[in-house]
Amino acid sequence: MLLRDNPDPIIGQADNFLAALERVSRVAPLSKPVLIIGERGAGKELIAARLHFLSERWQRPFIKFNCAALNEELLESELFGHVAGAYTGATRPRVGRFELAHGGTLFLDELASMSLRLQEKLLRVVEYGEFERVGSSETQKIDVRLLGAANVDLPALARAGKFREDLLDRLSFDVITVPPLREREEDILLLAQKFAEGMAQELGREYFAGFSPTAERQLKAHDWPGNVRELRNVVERAVYRLDSARQVVEQIELDPFASPYRLLPAVRPAAEPPSAAIAAPPVLPAAPSVPGLPLDFSREVETFERRLVQSALDEARFNQKKAAELLGLTYHQFRGLLRKYRLLETGAENLGEAS
Ligand SMILES: Nc1ncnc2c1ncn2[C@@H]1O[C@H](COP(=O)(O)OP(=O)(O)OP(=O)(O)O)[C@@H](O)[C@H]1O
Ligand SMILES: [Mg+2]
Repeated sequence: MLLRDNPDPIIGQADNFLAALERVSRVAPLSKPVLIIGERGAGKELIAARLHFLSERWQRPFIKFNCAALNEELLESELFGHVAGAYTGATRPRVGRFELAHGGTLFLDELASMSLRLQEKLLRVVEYGEFERVGSSETQKIDVRLLGAANVDLPALARAGKFREDLLDRLSFDVITVPPLREREEDILLLAQKFAEGMAQELGREYFAGFSPTAERQLKAHDWPGNVRELRNVVERAVYRLDSARQVVEQIELDPFASPYRLLPAVRPAAEPPSAAIAAPPVLPAAPSVPGLPLDFSREVETFERRLVQSALDEARFNQKKAAELLGLTYHQFRGLLRKYRLLETGAENLGEAS
């Protein structure tokens, strides 16, 4: 399914994704606030745009604003505007995003990073449609539909006292949770094909010759922590590196930093041990982040194992001996994992055990 949209088409046909889109269409015409929750790169901004363009406000402004981009003071003045002289340096009055969005939609991205004080101010706009510009006592009345996005669990933040419960209640008239790409496997190749064709077109090529079975397998096996954005980058990079339209994408390089000359993490020079008082903690390998609880322990462990195996295979360009070494496993152990995750039956074994 390809839904033409303003500004970008939304591509996807996995049941869980279609169910989310269905909710979007249903809630779009209402002027109620909606929260869009999902991992980075999952498509929250596209969903926000769809909510706006499917509403009666579609011809009015659609203003996007990222709350994590600025410190509290600047954020306040960007959102609510200020009068001349409100701060040192504020020589002219400024119209804030709320006023710019009047009659339309304001999409607040990374909502979770907003300070509690600004949340309070936001609460009042949501509740009464009014606020004051910074430095002014004149109340502004506005009609704005609010959309918010977050890639963290807002109820958990609220329980921890970092997000106002009352604001959350008011913003969450409905909540659209965008499923991560790894949970909509059938969309991976569909999106990959579209992105590849788009890139080929951008390069002025007549067509895109396709992915090899190996490349398709790699795309499907990866768990896409950066979701659709990551997929898009990976695919577009693979396509632009081809020499001609006739070539197919043989292999997928998932990590653009992969290189035999990759720099190692900085180590402290041995000659100058830092004094005990300011000693930095030893640099440990980054621990994988713990997903939200409750979780399915075996499933999480499997996902992580699969990821390790896949990244070793990628790094070793599918040379299994090398991949095993990279993981500190015997060849035997490694083959066991390949069998466990059925990475063998799809033909990974044909790929360069030699060399
Ligand atoms: N279903 C989809 N169909 C087509 N393109 C998509 C889809 N989902 C995401 N994209 C593309 O992937 C990229 C990331 O999407 P978007 O910016 O909406 O994600 P996000 O959830 O807002 O990410 P972040 O949390 O990092 O802000 C964009 O280039 C977007 O066009
Ligand atoms: Mg976004």
